[in-house]
Amino acid sequence: MKFLKKKNNFSLNINDNNALHLGLFQYCLTPEAEIILSNSTLAKILGYSFEKGFIREKFCRLFVKHLDRELFLKILNRNNSVKAFEVPLKKKNGQPLWVTITANLVPSSDKKERWIEGLIQDISTQKKIADKLTMERNFFENLLDNIPDAIYFKDCDNKIIKANNFYIQGSGLKAEEIIGKTDFDFFSPEQAQNMFNDDTQVLNTGKPIIGKIEKTLLGSGHWNQVITTKIPMRNNFGKIIGTMGITRDMTAYANFEQQRLNMMISALEVLGKALEMRDPYTFSHTRNVAGIAEKIASVLGWDENKILAIKLSGELHDLGKISIPLDILNKPGKLNSLEYRLIQEHVENCYNLIKDIEFPFPLANIIYQHHERLDGSGYPQGLKGDEILLEAKILAVSDVLEAMTHRRPYREAMGVVKACEELEKCKNVKYDAQIVNIAFDLIKQKGKKEFWVDD
Ligand SMILES: [Fe+2]
Ligand SMILES: [Fe+2]
Repeated sequence: MKFLKKKNNFSLNINDNNALHLGLFQYCLTPEAEIILSNSTLAKILGYSFEKGFIREKFCRLFVKHLDRELFLKILNRNNSVKAFEVPLKKKNGQPLWVTITANLVPSSDKKERWIEGLIQDISTQKKIADKLTMERNFFENLLDNIPDAIYFKDCDNKIIKANNFYIQGSGLKAEEIIGKTDFDFFSPEQAQNMFNDDTQVLNTGKPIIGKIEKTLLGSGHWNQVITTKIPMRNNFGKIIGTMGITRDMTAYANFEQQRLNMMISALEVLGKALEMRDPYTFSHTRNVAGIAEKIASVLGWDENKILAIKLSGELHDLGKISIPLDILNKPGKLNSLEYRLIQEHVENCYNLIKDIEFPFPLANIIYQHHERLDGSGYPQGLKGDEILLEAKILAVSDVLEAMTHRRPYREAMGVVKACEELEKCKNVKYDAQIVNIAFDLIKQKGKKEFWVDD
């Protein structure tokens, strides 16, 4: 009954109902040490039949790797104990099983032998989860660092807490010089403030900002055009804990688009030149209208793209007159209804000329609406109020102001004062009040002179 006697030497509570898997191993400081006591659970998880197979199994043979076994024994001999030693053990069928071993080295009662009193815990599930998490983290890190966009994470104080390789390389700084900093450390105060405002908006509203196109000044002194998306980051409870930003450099694409646009504008200017050769009055009118509209748009604080759109629509708005007979266009005296209808067709003509050309702004529609009036009295659609594009409302005021202040073959110029009286009379009825007021302010600044004519 050697087995029972030895078993009685230990106070280890071996309970099969215990969630942990317990084992007691004889240890003679040789690799041949046998297991002399175990609970059935430990035998079961290692794939052994409890009574017959597992007891008497050589403990040290359970290790998959020789080096793991050596390390385990080394620590045990040195400290007389091992805590949560993480290691794969070999199941009976040869498959590895990840466990932790916590063990003490204890002497037998006669002090002649030493024993390992151990506790083994199956951690294969945790290990699988940890491996999966590691794999996902590696996948995420890989993706983050190989994507050709700048990606950055900021905390609620807008400090950068993580940035990917593309961001770091683009900045020309080291990672440690970026982490913990804010945009105010890298960009001009104005740019940094805009970025700060966007981040704060995302933090406060929880709503993302998607695809914002902006220009940034690089350390090299060059401007680049970027498209930025910012989204809120949340913790497990849904609380916003920061923002994530993705910025893509669009400079090459923007340059290409700008070249395409320039080509298109050049082609349209050729059409304008044709109009000039045929009808110099209309040409100088359109050039002046473009100048007025551009100045009004500048006062409204529009960006350069929108200003370009309004300027171009001013230059092209009467291009449709190219198909109207000159004797009708420049007819002295009153037009009959047929002639008036023909003149009105210039809007439709121009729309049809340019409607299929792709512009980054609604050029054809702006022009199509330049004779519409707030009260619905305009043409060709009789649109009212908000149905009319703001650009078309600017064009309408600019058109009338220019036409009334310039001489035509069939009438004398009425002058700025008279034009202002007409605009004042129709303000809020036919013409947008804000735009009329801006035009008045510009005229006042120039001492009632034509502000669109350069000194
Ligand atoms: Fe017109
Ligand atoms: Fe016009």
